[in-house]
Amino acid sequence: MAIGAARMRDTFEAYIDEVRSVWGDGKDGQLPFKVKALMEKLFASTSPQDGWMARLIGEAKPSRELYRDPDCGFIQMGHVHAQGHGNLPHDHGPCWVIYGSYSGVTEITLYRRTDDGKEPGRAALEKKALHRLSPGVVQPYLPGDIHSTKAVEGPAVVFRFLSYDLEKIERHRYNMEKGTIALV
Ligand SMILES: [Fe+2]
Repeated sequence: MAIGAARMRDTFEAYIDEVRSVWGDGKDGQLPFKVKALMEKLFASTSPQDGWMARLIGEAKPSRELYRDPDCGFIQMGHVHAQGHGNLPHDHGPCWVIYGSYSGVTEITLYRRTDDGKEPGRAALEKKALHRLSPGVVQPYLPGDIHSTKAVEGPAVVFRFLSYDLEKIERHRYNMEKGTIALV
């Protein structure tokens, strides 16, 4: 093969290869933290001018599936959120998730339930922590963590790594004012 025909792997392809190489059976409790470190490395090694990142930023779609692994089941999403974009408190059921900020600032609020969960459709929440994801900051959220996100400085380029396809699991959305919980 002519040397000119060989293309350098881009930083995203290298990142995916690295995630696959640490995945194992997907059950290692340290995995969310290993992938967090790999995402931090991805951000540090990727310039906004790199082809794949320039496309993501240029298209500016609120949500885009960048990669879905056919063997391990994880999914890497890419989001470009306008300032003020946010969502209601939710969990990701049995999945863990990693939010990483490439640019802009996204705030993630964490909640705890203060009721006993015995009354169907009802849930009382209180805020327990606020994470400020400035550029380069990557944060894992473990199964059951209730959280909401808000782009406070936009446009916010946010990477969301899902340990599994959220469409295939049961998860919940909460309304704090109404005190309700519902399946997504
Ligand atoms: Fe989430």
